[in-house]
Order: sequence, then structure tokens, then C-alpha cells
Amino acid sequence: MLDQSNILIDVHVHTDPDRVKQEIRNGLLSSPKKLPTKYFYDDRGSALFEQICELPEYYPARTEFQLLKNTADDVVAQTGADTLVELGSGAATKTRVLFDAMSRAKQLRLYVPFDVSEGIVRRVAQELVEEYQGLQVHGIVGDFLAHLEHIPEGGKRLVAFLGGTIGNLGPEEALAFLSSIYEEMGHGDFFLLGVQLTTDVNRLEAAYNDSAGITETFNKNILSVLQSVIGAEFDLDAFEHIARFNHEQHRIEIYLRSRRDQAIPIPELDLHLRLHEGEEILTEISTKYTRPQVETLLTGAGFSPVEWYTDPDHLHGLALAKKR
Ligand code: SAH
Ligand code: TRP
Repeated sequence: MLDQSNILIDVHVHTDPDRVKQEIRNGLLSSPKKLPTKYFYDDRGSALFEQICELPEYYPARTEFQLLKNTADDVVAQTGADTLVELGSGAATKTRVLFDAMSRAKQLRLYVPFDVSEGIVRRVAQELVEEYQGLQVHGIVGDFLAHLEHIPEGGKRLVAFLGGTIGNLGPEEALAFLSSIYEEMGHGDFFLLGVQLTTDVNRLEAAYNDSAGITETFNKNILSVLQSVIGAEFDLDAFEHIARFNHEQHRIEIYLRSRRDQAIPIPELDLHLRLHEGEEILTEISTKYTRPQVETLLTGAGFSPVEWYTDPDHLHGLALAKKR
């Protein structure tokens, strides 16, 4: 139950160290080598991502923010939602736009931020109960690919998945994930999906190669996180930040490229990691969609599309869908 502070936080992550080790080990043993995205987001990673969202080159954040401003009242009217469940909620910057609309409609009751980053869920919960009178926050700290069943029941729910985070999943994973969200939802609940749209390559690549170097620092932060979770000691200077567009898969791919031959012992994984000069570890994909692709994905997962919103330059889309 929620206490007097109107805040309840459930923590489902860090519960299974063997699983964490297995995930990282599998990634480092696959070809090409890769690392699970969620390890970007310790407290420092979350703070760096907030800085990315302020960068002039990183247009998706401000585009989605503005788009939500223009559409939030309509979303709230169409859904009648009094409960907002947000997957990968992060700093909840854009969420406030939805709250303002829910509050104008006098139907703001419960917020369920769901994020793997514990510090940011706690911080956001505190900030929001102070900013919005009477709001209750039931935060879930967990992996949205594994712990969706912990989302509380009840209310007229709008489930939001913003920021284009869906693009960080591969095509099969994205469909499976949307299907599992669909399963968790009740009849009459709505789903709001933010997607980054395909645009010219220069703009796309610049968004992940900012001149201030924040994206590089963010990318390398995954190595620092690995150091704290599995004790692997990486020399950050031995890696170069790479972000480039893959035309076949219409996605930005982000890598850490080894500047030299290196061998990194990782006793906790029972692994001696070898990297040759120029070898790349895939740390993130960021898929860019078209409207038809989004609709195929949503209907494939069972949803009925309700509305499509986009900005004048068609850089970002917000798809509203419903569980029949
Ligand atoms: N929605 C915010 C943040 C997007 S960044 C925005 O639009 O600005 C992606 C967020 O998803 C981060 O806060 C990260 O911690 C979270 N995240 C990434 N992988 C996750 C996972 N597997 N489970 C839960 N949260 C995850
Ligand atoms: N969801 C964000 C995106 O796909 C994540 C992101 C932005 C990111 N910049 C990054 C991930 C740099 C890794 C490195 O746009």
C-alpha cells in the first residue's frame, strides 16, 4: 500500500546476480560482441542521458517534447486515463506534459514509473509528488523485458513507452516486447508509443556524435558499469566511440572500437576477453521507423491503432493504440 508520502517503490532488479553474469557473458561471447543496453543506466548513465537530451544535435528529445505538448490534451481526452504507466521513464521530463493535461482534465491519480535505474525512479517519485498535489507514485525498479507482471492493476491506464526506446530493441525483440505489454494490459487500456522516424543520414549520425563528446562519455560509461557489476577493469582510453547508420536495417549502431589489441581478464565471468585492434563491441542500436512499420508492429502485437501524431518535419511519431 502507498504510505503517507504517496510513494511506493518496488525493486525487482539486482535480485539475480547469476542472471546478470550470464547476460553479459553471452553478449561478450557472441559475434559480433555486444553488451546489453540496460547497463548504460546506472546513476551516472542516467544523468549523462539527461545531458544528451539537452544537446543541440540530439533533436529527438525536444521534438517528442513539443509533439507531446501539442497532443497531450487529445491523448487524455481519447483515453480518459487516470493512471499513467511509463516504461523506461528515466527523468520523466516529457511525462510532465502528460500530467499537466491529465490534471487539466481532473483525472490524474497514479503514476507508475518503470525503469532499471533505481536512483532516478526514487528521485522522480519524490519530485512528482511535490509538483502534483494528490498524485500517488508506485515506482517499479526492474527490467521491462523481464518484470512487466509487477505493474499494479487497476485504474484507467495509459501505458507510455516514449523516447524511441522501442528502437533500441531488434525487430523480433520489439514485436515480442509489444506483445508482452499487450498481454499485461487490461481491456480498454491505451498504449502510447514514441518512435523516431527515418530522416537524412547526416542528421541521424550527428545526433549520436555530438561535438561536446557527451555521447562518447555515455557510451563508455557502460564499461564503468561493468567494472562495478562484474569487476572487469577496462581502460576507457583504449576504446573509441563509433555511431553510424546501417542502411539495410535502418538503424544507428553504436559501438566501442578497440584502439589496440587487448586482453581483459574477467574472473567473475570465467572469461579472458580478447579484442583485436579495430574490433567493435556493439553497445546500442537505435532503429528509425516509418509510419507503416509502426502500424505493422502494433497490429502484430494485437493492438488496434487509434491515432498517429507527428511533427511538421516528420522526425518523430506518437502512435496511440488500444487493447480491444
Ligand atoms: N523516457 C525517457 C528516457 C529514455 S532513455 C525519455 O524519453 O527521455 C531509456 C530509459 O529506459 C532509461 O531511463 C533506461 O534506464 C531505461 N531502460 C533501458 N533498458 C531498460 C530495461 N531493460 N528495463 C527497464 N528500463 C530500461
Ligand atoms: N533511446 C535513445 C536513442 O535511441 C538512446 C540513446 C541516445 C543512446 N543516445 C545514445 C544510446 C547514445 C547509446 C549511445 O536515441
